[in-house]
Amino acid sequence: MSSEIKRAKKGWSVPVSKMATNTFNPIRNIVDTMKLTPHPDKPMIALSIGDPTVFGNLPMPENCEVAVTEAVKKRSFNGYAPSIGYEDSRQAVADYVSTPTSRVDSKDVVLASGASGALDLCISCLADEGDNILIPRPGFSLYKTLAESLGIEVRQYDLLPEKSWEIDLDHLESLIDSNTRAVIVCNPSNPCGSVYSREHLLEILQTMERKRVPIIADEIYEHFVFSGQTYYSMASLSENVPVLACGGLTKRYLVPGWRMGWIVINDRNDALVEVRGGLLKLSQRLLGPNTLVQAALPSILANTPESFYRETLEYIENNANVFYQHLSQVPGLKPVMPQGAMYMMVGLDMKHFPEFKSDVDLTERLVTEQSVFCLPAACFQYPNYFRVVLTVPTEKVSEACERMAAFCREHYKPINGINGKPDLTSKVNGLNGHCADEICVGK
Ligand SMILES: Cc1ncc(COP(=O)(O)O)c(C=O)c1O
Repeated sequence: MSSEIKRAKKGWSVPVSKMATNTFNPIRNIVDTMKLTPHPDKPMIALSIGDPTVFGNLPMPENCEVAVTEAVKKRSFNGYAPSIGYEDSRQAVADYVSTPTSRVDSKDVVLASGASGALDLCISCLADEGDNILIPRPGFSLYKTLAESLGIEVRQYDLLPEKSWEIDLDHLESLIDSNTRAVIVCNPSNPCGSVYSREHLLEILQTMERKRVPIIADEIYEHFVFSGQTYYSMASLSENVPVLACGGLTKRYLVPGWRMGWIVINDRNDALVEVRGGLLKLSQRLLGPNTLVQAALPSILANTPESFYRETLEYIENNANVFYQHLSQVPGLKPVMPQGAMYMMVGLDMKHFPEFKSDVDLTERLVTEQSVFCLPAACFQYPNYFRVVLTVPTEKVSEACERMAAFCREHYKPINGINGKPDLTSKVNGLNGHCADEICVGK
């Protein structure tokens, strides 16, 4: 019996809340409606999943396992912790994130269920229904999901692929009004793999200081940068702008399922006195993350060997190079070389693929014909791109690139110029992180 018939029979339908109705995950909304039927003769290669553990090729550091096992054996972490987390665990985070220009201690740290929980606390602490927050486009879709479920408007500021995904600051500034409560800056970025320079971060801070808007810094990929790049936390550069920095174990320690995240309150000029109280109150709704991982945190943060970080990054950077070298030779594709995190965005010159309506359409067919699944960037409100993850086993990267190249060769249609002129934009450029034509801007 269908649920409608059952309901009609009973004459009783329980209404759902406004918050649940307004909760919307753009990735699920797109991916769940795609027809993802892989080619029967080719094993599927999923380049879509931002979980670095799925292929089993990137193990977590051994000391993480030891630290949690010891916490279990001690049998003293089975009760409730303070809602913002154990003092020792918060102090460990404070020691881990402090820099000479941004010193914090345990009172400035709130532990949460992953960076998602941290972002949720920050957004709900800063904004009310009818207010707005600014988020990047392309950007991690959870910002929109969390804000809109609370009736908070999101305004998307543009990132510029031709400038290695720096923020279009004029655009960002034009979106700010008296109801703007925060701007979220994601650095290093999902989905772009960008890492902002010191100068660019200072420019962002200057803008926010002028407009008096606090920053929620999504730094879940902190320190996750490739060779030649330097990571600066937003707080380390902020003199006057208050920064709520969200981080966690998820990506750097390769344990997303452990759900350990944190907010670091980087106050400036006591601007966040009320917000501190608000975060404490909100933390009391769920009483903090798992106590065993909290107990293991000081040891994890202090004892993970440098070699673990280095080897993980070398692996991912090597994959980025393999992807970039292969895909920049493929007609119609324009990869943007990342500088960190675990992702690469690849531009699609859609005018050369006229049989596909969109990036969603094209990536769907790539699954059907070649069993390779790339996430269409429509999921990040950014059409004409797709995102690949860089945590895949390297042999699968090469295989995936070959299949993507075969697919593009099959479907690519050359264009013999518009108005009789040669079409210069159709040539694949080899510029590192730069796209030469309007398609790459994705508008
Ligand atoms: C940019 C960004 N922020 C936050 C998160 C959420 O992290 P967590 O799994 O710790 O909740 C992710 C996860 O993929 C992410 O990519």
